[in-house]
Parts: sequence; structure tokens; C-alpha cells
Amino acid sequence: MTDSQRRSARPVILLTGASSGIGEATARELAQRNYALVLAARRADRLHALARQLDPTGSRVLAVPTDLTVDGERRALLARAHEHFGAVDVLINNAGVTVEKGWWWDDPDPLRVLRVNLETPVEMVRLVLPEMKARRSGHIVNIGSVAGRAATNGMYSASKFGIRGFSLGLRRELLGTGISVSLVSPGFVKSEMTAGASLPMPGPEVVARAVAEVLLKPQREVIVPAPYRVLALLDSVAPALADVIVRRFIIQRRYRHDGHVR
Ligand SMILES: NC(=O)c1ccc[n+]([C@@H]2O[C@H](COP(=O)([O-])OP(=O)(O)OC[C@H]3O[C@@H](n4cnc5c(N)ncnc54)[C@H](OP(=O)(O)O)[C@@H]3O)[C@@H](O)[C@H]2O)c1
Repeated sequence: MTDSQRRSARPVILLTGASSGIGEATARELAQRNYALVLAARRADRLHALARQLDPTGSRVLAVPTDLTVDGERRALLARAHEHFGAVDVLINNAGVTVEKGWWWDDPDPLRVLRVNLETPVEMVRLVLPEMKARRSGHIVNIGSVAGRAATNGMYSASKFGIRGFSLGLRRELLGTGISVSLVSPGFVKSEMTAGASLPMPGPEVVARAVAEVLLKPQREVIVPAPYRVLALLDSVAPALADVIVRRFIIQRRYRHDGHVR
């Protein structure tokens, strides 16, 4: 069968980090909207269970267990997507990690945050761009963070300022090519990543809906939930005030250290 014969009638979305949190909620939202989905993350059991639940026939939602930090696994993921659907129309770079607790410099491998949150999306974009350029269409959606606007944990913010710069720059580079680039920057929402945070948080569905909306209308950057737009603005116009708010209400409550630097 040729690629064009095999080509899915629905737009095909490759979504990373689909096994929990924002990724899982996004998979549910997009499946409801009838997209064809390729779901990637490491936990095979969760990924397969989700795919079966969203599409018991197995034709429209494909689970591909993948460690996205491994080049060979990323290439195998793309190959499976093509074998099953014939193309990837949209790439959503959502998979992410942080230093779960305490100071990032006490973590034995803090640079894994950069590998998962920044290197992996860049490498995934390199893999999908050739087919998108050839078709002169496609959409890359990166999941950043408000921590890429108002800095919090140094390592996590390095990755999220990085993905934000990458996303905004790539968007400009691709203007006029038919390929869109959108950045969705969430504030705190409930997920495994934020399980230890003592902060009021909505569920991840608010981000899933924002992702579904940018698929209909690409956006340079969308911050959700909306009140975090004030924090992003405050950080640029009154950074000294943002120092106090971010340190007291985010750094200490999110990372649960005692506030004293060791
Ligand atoms: N929750 C928030 O408040 C918040 C705020 C701002 C931004 N974000 C961003 O939103 C995105 C999703 O986070 P979340 O809150 O939904 O956290 P989460 O529930 O912990 O989900 C993270 C996802 O990333 C996947 N992942 C991690 N390392 C991976 C690897 N090496 N290979 C493949 N998949 C990997 C995990 O799957 P496996 O463990 O199965 O591999 C999981 O599906 C992240 O980019 C995060 O930085 C979250």
C-alpha cells in the first residue's frame, strides 16, 4: 500500500507525554474531537489502556511506548506513526519533567530536565519537519510553562525559557511555509508533576481545551489558566514584586523546601 492510499482521512496528531496529566487529558479531548492520535510516553501499560479506552477498534488511536530521550526510540515512534497512518500532520511536544522536590542542585541528574523538556522537542521537530515542508502544511504545538515567563526553579525555568525561545523563533522561521508553530504555557494544574504542591489548581482539562483551540487557530503563545497572564506581565513590568510573590507562593510551596538555601 502506498503512503497516499494509507493516509488517514483525519488529521494525525503525534502527542508526547500522553500517559498522565495534561497529555492524558489532551488525548481525551482530541479523541472526542475525532482526530487520529499517536500517543507516546514510557509507561506502556497506561498508554495502551488509554488508547484502548479512547478507541477500542485500534484504528484511530495508536499507543507507541517510547523513551523520548533515546534517538532510536524517537525514530521508531515516527516510523510506527507513518506505518499506521501514513503521515504526521501535528506534533504536540508535551512530555516533561522537573526536579520533583527540594533544590535542583541536590538532584543527582538535573540536566535530564533539559534533555526531556528541550532537547527532545527539538529532535522531534527535526524528525517531522521534512514531511511538513514537503506538504507545505503542518502544526507544531509546544507545551511551555508560565515558568518560561516568570522564572521559578532554575533548572525547570532554563528548560521552559528555552522551549519558549525555540517555539517563538521557529514560528518566525517558518512564517509563509504553511507550517504553524504554537506555544501553550500552563500555570499550575493538577497532575503527577504537581502532586506535592500545596497550591490551588484546576484540573489539566483547562490546558487540553487550550491545545484543542490552538489546533483550530494557531497562536504565538497562550497562557492558561488566564489569571497567570497577570503574573507573566508582572514579571516583565515589576520584577522586584514578582521576586517576592514567586519566591513565597511558588518556589517554597511547589518545591516544599524550608526556604533556606543549603
Ligand atoms: N502540571 C503543571 O502545573 C504544569 C505547568 C506548566 C507546564 N507543565 C508542562 O506540561 C507538560 C505535561 O506535564 P504534566 O503536568 O502533565 O506532568 P505529568 O503528569 O508528570 O506528565 C508528564 C508526561 O511526560 C512523560 N515523560 C516524561 N519523561 C519522558 C520520557 N523520557 N519519554 C517519554 N515520555 C516522558 C510522562 O510519561 P512516562 O513517565 O510514562 O514516560 C508523562 O506522560 C510538561 O511539559 C510540563 O512541564 C505542567
